[in-house]
Amino acid sequence: MQISPSILSADFANLERELGAIANADWAHVDVMDNHFVPNLTLGLPVVEALLKVSPIPIDCHLMIDEPDRWAPSYAEAGAKSVTFHIEAVRDAVATARAIRSAGARAAFAVKPGTDFAPYEDLLPEVDMVLVMTVEPGFGGQSFMADQMPKVRQVREAVKRYGGEVWIQVDGGVSADTIEQCAEAGADVFVAGSAVYGKESAAAAVDDLRALAAAHAHG
Ligand code: DX5
Ligand code: ZN
Repeated sequence: MQISPSILSADFANLERELGAIANADWAHVDVMDNHFVPNLTLGLPVVEALLKVSPIPIDCHLMIDEPDRWAPSYAEAGAKSVTFHIEAVRDAVATARAIRSAGARAAFAVKPGTDFAPYEDLLPEVDMVLVMTVEPGFGGQSFMADQMPKVRQVREAVKRYGGEVWIQVDGGVSADTIEQCAEAGADVFVAGSAVYGKESAAAAVDDLRALAAAHAHG
C-alpha cells in the first residue's frame, strides 16, 4: 500500500520544503497540466527537473497533456521514476510506454472517469501501473467519484487474469473517508492532495492514510 501525495495542493512558493514534509510517503505525485488536455495549467519539465534535485522520495509524474507521445519520455529521462500518460491523449500507447521504460521509469496509463478500461486490457504487459481517475482531471479538492469503484475492480480482475505485477492507482478526492473503498476495490497506490497538504501535519496524514488502506486491502 503506497501513498503518493499530490503537490498540487502544496505551497508552490516552497516546494522543496513541501516535499520534505512528505518524506515518509512512497512517492511525490506531480501533476503536469498543459491547459489543453485539461482546463488548467501547472508546471512542466524545467520545474520537474528542479524538483528531482531536491525531492527526498521518487517522483510520480501524472501528465495531463496533449501529445504525451512527444513529451512523456523526457520526464523519464530527467529522472522521474514513474510516468503516467492519459490513454485519451496518446496516439501510440505501446511505443510511449516502451520509451518511458527504456528511459528507466515505470510506465502507466490513466483513464478519465468517462473512459472505459476494457478496450485497453491488452496493454497490461506494457505498463507497470494503471491510474483510475476518481475525479475529472484538472483540479485538486474535488469530490470523490465512488461510481469509479467498479472500474477499479475491473482493472484488478484484469491484472489477475494477466498474472503480471501491475499497480492500480486512484487519484482524486482520496481521503480518510474514501480510501477504504478504494483499497477494498483493489487499488494499491493512493494519490491524495488536499487530504495530505490540507492537514496540520502532512506526514501524519500520510501515515494515517497508509494504515487505513492497509487495513482494507483487497483480498
Ligand atoms: C487532479 C489531479 C490530482 C489532484 C488530487 O486532476 O490529478 O492529483 O491533485 O487532489 P485531491 O486529492 O485534492 O482531490
Ligand atoms: Zn494527479
